[in-house]
Amino acid sequence: MIPVNEPSLGIAESENVTECLRTGWISSAGRFIDEFERKWAAYCGKRYGIAVSNGTTALQLAVASLDLKAGDEVIMPSFTIISCALAVVYNRGVPVLVDSDQETWCMDVTQIEKKITSRTRAIMPVHIYGHPVDMDPVMDLARKYGLAVIEDAAEVHGAEYFTMRDTGDPAWRRCGSFGTVSCFSFYANKLITTGEGGMILTDSQPLAEKLRSLRNLCFQAQRRFVHEELGFNFRLTNLQAAIGLAQLQRIAQIVSRKRWMGQEYTKRLEDLHCLRLHREKSWARSVYWMYGVVLTEDSGMNATEFGRRLQDLGVETRPFFLGMHEQPVFRQGGLFLNERYPVTETLARQGLYLPSGLALTEEQLSRVCDAVHQVIP
Ligand SMILES: Cc1ncc(COP(=O)(O)O)c(C=O)c1O
Repeated sequence: MIPVNEPSLGIAESENVTECLRTGWISSAGRFIDEFERKWAAYCGKRYGIAVSNGTTALQLAVASLDLKAGDEVIMPSFTIISCALAVVYNRGVPVLVDSDQETWCMDVTQIEKKITSRTRAIMPVHIYGHPVDMDPVMDLARKYGLAVIEDAAEVHGAEYFTMRDTGDPAWRRCGSFGTVSCFSFYANKLITTGEGGMILTDSQPLAEKLRSLRNLCFQAQRRFVHEELGFNFRLTNLQAAIGLAQLQRIAQIVSRKRWMGQEYTKRLEDLHCLRLHREKSWARSVYWMYGVVLTEDSGMNATEFGRRLQDLGVETRPFFLGMHEQPVFRQGGLFLNERYPVTETLARQGLYLPSGLALTEEQLSRVCDAVHQVIP
């Protein structure tokens, strides 16, 4: 079976972890945490990094740092992981959805403005499967309406967006550099991993301080066990940061390997008219976190059947997200009733992703493409 993903871990990771064990710095203080936060923020072009326990808690803290009032709204894509909507719901807010763009599968930025109300506090763009959201229109709307931007960059380490708004000069900028607060995941299937882990980036010193406090139970510097705010224990350990720092040393190589993989898949599958591929926009440098494909309606097959047939040929796949508006847990709670997002619904039913891990060899990639050709007429 060719696995959908495998992490790539090396000697440097193991040496760093051994140092933690040798020196006893195994909890959430230690040199690796500070260095990982500093270096990841610098790599993404942000001033402050706040390492947390995973990408879901990163989003939850990012939303918490905005002090929503009950009923405040955050606009986000319907096609995303549940962590995005949970972050808002846990903070007493209301997630407001927009459909996906047909080609990027990210939020359709042309649908955002009509969802803005007097209760809207933030927009949460989510870069999907390695491909950036069209950020300029998002940032324009945020400026126009005075909204925060919670950028979910959990799937796009090292991806870039060509902005026409950068201090007058068009420029390539890394995903994660745009948000008021930006969130990453370092789960084992991400481009760089800490096993479990996440980070929030921001340029705002007050927000950074607030996030650090919220992450650590809102202990106070002077009166440690006196708490004036509700905090969380969402700390990352030095052991995890030790792995992340070693991974970060290889990021350039990792990004170029992923781009090679994505381009190679595209080359070998583009003759199949029953498949829609995740093509890179001219303003994007995708990192192809997971190589997704979408079956057209006239393929006569849905993603479940497609995945089953590929499995029979030794190829593991994963289905796409189910839209937030179709999640039973939200519907039961009265959210998104009677809302329809047709592009998301098609992606959810017709899309899956192919093996995309860093350990995937060219020979395995060929076998995956042969299997896809065999299954699709
Ligand atoms: C877009 C997006 N946001 C957030 C997360 C949550 O990250 P984690 O699994 O580290 O909690 C994920 C996880 O894959 C994700 O894909």
